[in-house]
Amino acid sequence: MSEIKTFTTADLANHSSKDSLYLAVGGKVYDCTEFIDEHPGGEEVLIDEAGKDATESFEDVGHSDEAREIMAKMYVGEFQTDGSGKQAKSASSGTPKPIPAKQNQDSGSATQILVAVAAVAGFALYKFFL
Ligand code: HEM
Repeated sequence: MSEIKTFTTADLANHSSKDSLYLAVGGKVYDCTEFIDEHPGGEEVLIDEAGKDATESFEDVGHSDEAREIMAKMYVGEFQTDGSGKQAKSASSGTPKPIPAKQNQDSGSATQILVAVAAVAGFALYKFFL
């Protein structure tokens, strides 16, 4: 096996025509040139995303495992992002996005409700007995 190639955003942009069509999905680069005519979703969508990071559009469609198998055969290298926002996120999409903030908020508000209920109950008892 030869060593893994790395593509920058500019490298990828050099392959944005029907004659040479590369796509980046999930931080990996795929040569879809031969696949354009075979794509069940049509050639237009692939040409639209040609030479770009197509992670979002690809995932939005909810492609099947079969689609991912086909894709694996077209793998040509890794996508090197320049650290600019969106793309950097998709490049690391092998790992699920951590969402601890939201969970904390949820359990936080549940605790708040409990505290509030306890306070009201306590106050009612206090009023009742005194
Ligand atoms: C290497 C890249 C890609 C491969 C191998 C691929 C493969 C496939 C396959 C096998 C299907 C049939 C349904 C399925 O099995 O999920 C499909 C459907 C579809 N693909 Fe892709 N696809 C690729 C990239 C894209 C991209 C970048 C878009 C952009 C929007 C796209 C849009 C669609 C759409 C809209 C359909 C649905 C067609 C329908 O249900 O009528 N695909 N693709």
